[in-house]
Amino acid sequence: MDGKPKTGSGLLFDGIKENLVLGPGVYSPRYDSRMLSSAIERYAFGKMLDMGTGTGIQGIVAAKKGCSVTFADKNPDAVACARLNAKRNGVHGRFVVSDLFSNVRDEFNTIAFDPPYLRTFLVPERMQDCALHGGGLHGREIIDRFLAGYADHVLDDYLVLLVEPPWAGWKRDASKLDAKVVEKKHYSLLGTFVILMFGSSA
Ligand SMILES: C[S@@+](CC[C@H](N)C(=O)[O-])C[C@H]1O[C@@H](n2cnc3c(N)ncnc32)[C@H](O)[C@@H]1O
Repeated sequence: MDGKPKTGSGLLFDGIKENLVLGPGVYSPRYDSRMLSSAIERYAFGKMLDMGTGTGIQGIVAAKKGCSVTFADKNPDAVACARLNAKRNGVHGRFVVSDLFSNVRDEFNTIAFDPPYLRTFLVPERMQDCALHGGGLHGREIIDRFLAGYADHVLDDYLVLLVEPPWAGWKRDASKLDAKVVEKKHYSLLGTFVILMFGSSA
């Protein structure tokens, strides 16, 4: 060991998770967050957008790697929480309340998103229910809106890292987007989650 954290090992995630505060209704990082963090540790570069930031954990990992980060979430409490956590972890960034790209004016080298992925008919009325709900019958509604919007917010050299749950049809997306599966984990009660990576630098 040379004393440096191993990249892509999840060690950055584990260390930062210890030092996070949670807000009411802000997503507490779990298995899906850890998978995305591992991919960010390995691949994120340049200007990075942490979409659906929650506690800010993904953007903090990216900033620790040298990325300049914009933290965005639809939930204002999550954005406030990410701001606080960035400060606690010695990280600077820009903080935006935005329904997907509605309030994002910039272009990025890396966009990472762990969307609300549960299958549900309910359109969440309360902001704190947006962390997991709102994905529609197939858990895809936010994913589809994200895929329809990201291309206007990327630089020439870019990659997108996207969490997809077992029920969202990730094999179809992987083929359509020419994406690599850079993380894949099977959870016995849920099925197989993946991180898709696609883009000109993927
Ligand atoms: C599964 S959580 C992921 C949180 C965090 N990125 C992580 O990895 O732990 C999904 C996040 O997306 C946010 N979100 C839901 N709908 C959104 C939308 N339309 N635009 C932006 N963020 C949204 C939620 O508020 C929540 O913070």
